[in-house]
Amino acid sequence: MSVEFRNVVKRYGATPAVAGVSFTVEAGTLVTLLGPSGCGKTTTLRMIAGLELPSEGRILIAGRDVTSLSATERDVSMVFQSYALFPHMSVLENVTYGLRRSGIARAEAIGRARDGLKQVGLDGYDARQPSELSGGQQQRVAVARALVLKPSVLLFDEPLSNLDARLRRQMREEIRDLQRGLGLTVVYVTHDQQEAMAVSDRIIVMNAGRIEQQGSPRDLYERPATPFLARFMGESTPARGRLERLDAGRVRVRLGEAAIDLPDTATPEGNVDVAVRPEAITVEAAPGPAGSLGGRIAKASYLGTHMEYSIDTAAGQLFATCPRVDRPLAAGDAVGLVLAPRGVLVLRG
Ligand SMILES: Nc1ncnc2c1ncn2[C@@H]1O[C@H](COP(=O)(O)OP(=O)(O)OP(=O)(O)O)[C@@H](O)[C@H]1O
Ligand SMILES: [Mg+2]
Repeated sequence: MSVEFRNVVKRYGATPAVAGVSFTVEAGTLVTLLGPSGCGKTTTLRMIAGLELPSEGRILIAGRDVTSLSATERDVSMVFQSYALFPHMSVLENVTYGLRRSGIARAEAIGRARDGLKQVGLDGYDARQPSELSGGQQQRVAVARALVLKPSVLLFDEPLSNLDARLRRQMREEIRDLQRGLGLTVVYVTHDQQEAMAVSDRIIVMNAGRIEQQGSPRDLYERPATPFLARFMGESTPARGRLERLDAGRVRVRLGEAAIDLPDTATPEGNVDVAVRPEAITVEAAPGPAGSLGGRIAKASYLGTHMEYSIDTAAGQLFATCPRVDRPLAAGDAVGLVLAPRGVLVLRG
């Protein structure tokens, strides 16, 4: 079932937590709300669930106006940022509780709960109390409890924040597989950009209670519209360049002595803010091929899979990652940088 927000505002006192947002989550898709702490992600989810009512605007689920319906009148379930397990119930009772309440017979509820617990890797934990689990295990019980209900709309508030890197990857794949397999509509909240890119059909980036930009993971990464987006979606270094218009639909961006030709129809000529992706820079020994940007290594770090370099150039200090760990460069080395067009992002003023 689709979820739609129309100019929704939520005020607590003077400053709005959500300052007028409109978006649509298509039925059967996974859409992520991504943004820094305090930007209004949880508040938005709670309004979908009916746990908060908007101060202004309308909320529609499956085309029906649910703005003033309570949580129990919406077929929505939520995995809370703080898990909110029932402390006096065992793991199995926590997961069966919602199933029993929706009228499912005891034996079937237990069967489904056990399947759910197996899916999150908690086979054999049925009898434990939440207080006897680690934070990550509690988080997985909360995920299982929501998944077994198969609601029309499933909400996840930072469901993996307490897991280590390997389990986080495994669980996010599990959530994505289930969502696709069952055709669930999921609204997912995280402040982790990589997690958002890995699980989402679309991402809505929020900043200070507003939507900064929305689109597919590829749209946002390759065409961030604002400096905030370029910084938040992956790494990039800001730089100042000059833009000249070429023939129709193409521009040339000059960064120091380097010139990069890009497709662009909108940006006016003159000085522009750009962002440069670290993986788009090829670092060569000076002077590098014709058209390279000259620089000098300021800092070099070995990361196992790649090298990281900070490089002083005429366009500012750039940050680069380089897969060549066999021939590392050192601070002080003169280099020539080749900039791949896809990693040079022209930002809106
Ligand atoms: N019940 C409340 N009363 C007053 N202010 C609130 C309340 N709930 C949230 N806020 C404020 O609204 C803003 C948005 O909060 P929200 O919890 O939605 O942020 P968030 O994006 O989920 O952040 P985080 O990543 O830290 O969980 C914050 O400034 C917060 O302090
Ligand atoms: Mg939150």
